[in-house]
Parts: sequence; C-alpha cells; structure tokens
Amino acid sequence: MKKIIFTLLLTVGAISAANAVEGDADAGKAKAAMCGACHGATGVTPNPVYPDLAGQHAAYIVKQLADFKSGTRTDMMMAPMAAGLSDQDMADLGAFFASQKRASERTEAVAETGAAPAVAAEAGSVELVSSTAAKAIYAGDVKSGQDKSVMCASCHGADGNSLVPIYPSLAGQSASYLTKQLADFKSGDRKDPVMAGMVAALSEKDMQDLGAFFAVQAAKAGTGESSTIGQKLYFGGDAKKGVTACIACHGVKGKGMAQAGFPALAGQSADYLSKQLASFRDGSRGNDKNEMMRNIAIKLSDNDIKELVQYMTSLK
Ligand code: HEC
Ligand code: HEC
Ligand code: HEC
Repeated sequence: MKKIIFTLLLTVGAISAANAVEGDADAGKAKAAMCGACHGATGVTPNPVYPDLAGQHAAYIVKQLADFKSGTRTDMMMAPMAAGLSDQDMADLGAFFASQKRASERTEAVAETGAAPAVAAEAGSVELVSSTAAKAIYAGDVKSGQDKSVMCASCHGADGNSLVPIYPSLAGQSASYLTKQLADFKSGDRKDPVMAGMVAALSEKDMQDLGAFFAVQAAKAGTGESSTIGQKLYFGGDAKKGVTACIACHGVKGKGMAQAGFPALAGQSADYLSKQLASFRDGSRGNDKNEMMRNIAIKLSDNDIKELVQYMTSLK
C-alpha cells in the first residue's frame, strides 16, 4: 500500500499527498502547539516575520510541510519543524489550520503570544517524533567514547551529569550537538580556555565517539523552582520585543531537537545557563548558526534572563 501511495505521489504530484491521508483537525490542534510559538496558537501571528496559516488551504499547507521536510523548499526554521512530522501529522496540521478563521475574519484582537502552556502540554507527541528518532542516530562508537571520556569526568561527571554548577551536564544531550561543540572549541568558533585545552588533541572520530557516549547517558531532571514570568517567556516569547519563544527550538520540556542541532536545556545549572545567555547577548559566544541565539539573546533584559533561567532549571 505504501509503495502504491508513493508511486502515486511521484506520478500525480503533490496534490495527492493531501488526499492520501485524511487529516483530523482535532488531532492537528494538539500537534500545532509547537507551531504556535511562531505562527500563533490558531494560525494568526502578530509577528510579521512569520506567515499566517489560518484559513489557508489544507492541501497547500501539507505540500509546504512535505517540501520543507524533503528540502525542496528551504528555510532554516521550518526544516527542523517539518523533519519529525509524519504524513498523518502533516494532514492533521493542514486540517487544523485550514479550519481556523483568517485574521480578516476575526473580530477579537489576536493574543500577543503564541502557544499557551495549557495547549503546549499536549504537544508531547510531536516533540517525541522529532527527538527520539534522531537520538538513535550518531556516528560515533559508544564504547570507545566511554574510554575516551575518562579525562572529562572530573568536570562533567563520569556519567555526564555535572556536580559543579559552572560545568555543563552533557548527559542526554544530542550527539550531533556535542560533536559540534567540541569541533567549535577546537576551531575557536566557541571560545573557552579550559575546553580549548581539552579538545586540542581530539580527532574528528574522538569527538563523534564522545558525543555518542554522552548522548546515551541518562540526564538528571532539573530541581530548580519554576518561575511564572520565565515560563511565559519560554512558551510565548515576546512579540513586542521580537523574541521568538524558546519552545519553538528547545521543545516543550527543554529536551531540544537533535536533528536540528537545538540543544537540550533541562538539567543544566542556573550558573551555566545564565553565562551562555549573557555570552550570546554580548556576542562572546558566536557559534550559533545564522546567529539564531544571538538574535534572540540581544533582545533579553537582565531580568528576562534571570526569570528564564529560573524557569529552565525546573525543566524535568
Ligand atoms: C521558529 C519559528 C517557526 C515555527 C516554530 C514553525 N514555523 Fe512554519 N514558518 C516559519 C517561517 C519563518 C516560515 C516562512 C519560511 C519562508 O520564508 O520560506 C514558515 C512557513 C510555514 C509554512 C508555509 C506557509 C506559506 O504560506 O507558504 C507552513 C505551512 C508552516 N510554516 C507550517 C508550520 C507548522 C505546521 C509548524 C509546527 C509543526 C510550524 N510551521 C512551526 C517559522 C516557524
Ligand atoms: C577542567 C574542567 C573540564 C574538563 C576536564 C572538560 N571540560 Fe568540557 N567544559 C568545561 C567548561 C568550563 C565548559 C563551559 C564553557 C563555557 O562556559 O562556554 C565546558 C563545556 C563543554 C561542552 C559544551 C556543552 C554545552 O552544553 O554546550 C562540551 C560538549 C564539553 N565541555 C565536552 C567535554 C569533553 C568531551 C571533555 C573530555 C574530553 C571535557 N569537556 C573536559 C570544563 C571542562
Ligand atoms: C530558532 C531556534 C532557537 C530559539 C527560538 C531559541 N534557541 Fe536557544 N539555541 C538555539 C541553538 C541552535 C543553540 C546552539 C547553538 C550552537 O552552539 O550550535 C541554542 C543554545 C542555547 C543555549 C545554550 C545551551 C548550551 O548547552 O550551551 C541556551 C541557554 C539557550 N539556547 C536558551 C534559549 C532561550 C532561553 C530561548 C528563548 C528566549 C531560546 N534559547 C530560543 C536555537 C534557538
């Protein structure tokens, strides 16, 4: 059956993509929580950088998502969003957004923030699709990574759960992100005098092995107290300041998105998180592709950072 549908897609073109799978608007609503951060919870966004989706044809939405996933249409923000979506997810999302009223048909003012925490909690399934599949993908060898990790243990913990707040935990972080950081420390794209010394002698294979080893370690849950202000910013961003919600890239539970290179934040110490946000803000950390984090951090006040960090330390 799959083969038949696939052949159909190839021959008849993308229009059959919409017909191949029946969309369910209610299921789509739950899955759309991840999209709300940028496109608005009901597909009308106050942020002019992102297109409205409300009232768009379902078939068009499905085709765009399939194109972002296949790479036919390229966009640095949408590619990772579409990467984890199944045909059913796309059909459901298409059905949901198509059923929403366009901005011009609405009488009520559009809420400033996107995904409300209550909706976002239902989005677990989408996040799971995109992160679990990718977590299993790593180029390195776990066993040799473990052997090589002996010299990392004094700071990052033998199992990658750091006991000292200035050292980040590495456990459960995606292999691709870890490997990239090691390469960045080595090339100098990310600057840290301690880590520069640690990576100087590492080969590409060493970095992949270390990434694989730490990626499969179990991360400890955060134990910090939550912050209501921080949570609001994390889930909804700040449309007035142009701050994209953190949930869009780091996920509902702060587990990140492995395929996209978005790191997990859960389980990290307040000291480490504050330092990274401050470094992105003043540009001293500049290894984020397309200035993705710097563009966000530069709009955060000291108090925003304080509240966000407080909230992030509570992520389980
Ligand atoms: C981090 C922000 C962000 C998130 C989260 C996000 N998008 Fe997008 N989306 C964008 C941007 C930016 C564009 C415009 C891309 C371009 O310029 O080609 C876009 C474009 C689209 C388009 C094409 C619209 C058109 O008129 O051509 C669709 C469909 C879409 N997104 C669906 C989704 C869905 C469904 C989700 C959730 C699974 C989602 N997006 C999550 C930023 C985001
Ligand atoms: C002497 C202490 C020390 C040792 C030993 C050490 N590190 Fe680090 N590591 C640090 C510090 C400090 C940072 C944070 C740098 C910063 O603030 O940007 C860091 C950051 C990292 C990061 C980035 C984490 C993130 O979330 O972005 C990775 C990956 C990493 N170290 C891997 C390793 C590996 C692999 C080893 C062993 C080969 C190792 N480290 C050995 C101190 C150490
Ligand atoms: C458009 C995607 C995107 C959004 C939205 C986003 N981030 Fe990030 N973030 C990234 C990427 C990518 C990196 C890693 C860059 C690198 O080193 O390769 C990162 C890294 C980080 C780090 C450092 C993690 C570590 O282990 O060193 C922190 C902390 C962080 N982000 C916090 C936030 C907060 C808080 C928000 C919301 C205000 C946010 N991010 C919004 C993409 C994003």
